[in-house]
Amino acid sequence: MSQHAPLIDPFARAISYLRVSVTDRCDFRCVYCMAENMTFLPKADLLTLEELDRLCSAFVGLGVEKLRITGGEPLVRKGIMTFFAAMKRHLDSGALKELTLTTNGSQLGKYAQELAACGVRRINVSLDTLDPDKFAAITRWGRLPQVLDGIAAAKAAGMRVKINAVALRGFNEDEQFSLTEWCAREGHDLTWIEVMPMGDLGNEDRLDQYWSLRDLRARYAARYSLSDLAERTGGPARYVRIEQTGQKIGFITPLTHNFCESCNRVRLTCTGELYMCLGQEDMADLRAPLRASPDDAALVAAIRAAIARKPKGHDFDYTRQTVAGQMTRHMSHTGG
Ligand code: GTP
Ligand code: 5AD
Ligand code: SF4
Repeated sequence: MSQHAPLIDPFARAISYLRVSVTDRCDFRCVYCMAENMTFLPKADLLTLEELDRLCSAFVGLGVEKLRITGGEPLVRKGIMTFFAAMKRHLDSGALKELTLTTNGSQLGKYAQELAACGVRRINVSLDTLDPDKFAAITRWGRLPQVLDGIAAAKAAGMRVKINAVALRGFNEDEQFSLTEWCAREGHDLTWIEVMPMGDLGNEDRLDQYWSLRDLRARYAARYSLSDLAERTGGPARYVRIEQTGQKIGFITPLTHNFCESCNRVRLTCTGELYMCLGQEDMADLRAPLRASPDDAALVAAIRAAIARKPKGHDFDYTRQTVAGQMTRHMSHTGG
């Protein structure tokens, strides 16, 4: 096999999308993502920015065309703009089609201009509610005005914004239309996500929180005319257009409609573990081969060996009124 042959998994899926978590830390504590008292990794365990560059560049050399930077909150990682600026060379060369991030928005006021200058054209911002008190409750530590200012800064810098809202029964059900209309007015896309059973569920009940997007979609259909779009963003969302407002609404449905057959992605953690599936435990350590030699041969071999074990999909399932397929790993470990 040529050293640059593309990454194809055992189910004939080409891996063209790498999600990279650059820190496990976050300035919020969203209830479905983290515990309130998280123990974070010692800073010495993290890959350096130079190591992250080498790893991402190796993946780009193997056909990865989309790089999404995640966390924790990626923008709290010290020096992260240096890394974005370095990745711009892969956009400039044409090897990378998209450089982007998923963020809670809190630091966008500070970094939006610089991100745009690094070639980031589109960002995803997690925002589940427009009510300041509910926002404070769901994020435990977040402040809504700071996030809204950050989103405004991103728009002013010329980036497209997609709002990611986790659909939560009894929490943001009553905001389905107000959030949709706000996005329409602001010119943002909106994607809804079914809540997945990740993390130490302790005293939380995912079955109680779970709001099926089949139901949410039916509520849209009762109010608006929807047309299915063939358009894809490279992620798992399927999109519809609301004819009355012209806006695009995405649905990420790990529970009601499994999209694993078209999976094109793997996830790298901030310590160099490669998770081949969000919903499975198996991972490969890439830090050891990375550090063992300045040459990439061992690293590329380790990446290929990992892709050869990519599982078929997750086992999340709430249909029997129990939580199946649960992962004790927190979402913040792999960045979603
Ligand atoms: P686009 O580039 O806009 O399509 O983004 P994306 O959906 O790929 O990324 P984003 O970070 O916005 O992810 C939104 C949600 O989708 C997060 O909650 C992720 O956990 C979830 N998600 C993304 N990829 C997968 C996947 O492979 N499997 C599952 N089960 N969920 C995923
Ligand atoms: N289920 C579904 N989505 C989640 N996210 C975090 N935890 C969960 C969960 N348990 C979302 C965030 C963010 C994205 C990266 O993952 O809201 O938009
Ligand atoms: Fe891919 Fe696993 Fe997500 Fe399914 S659950 S889409 S296989 S990462």
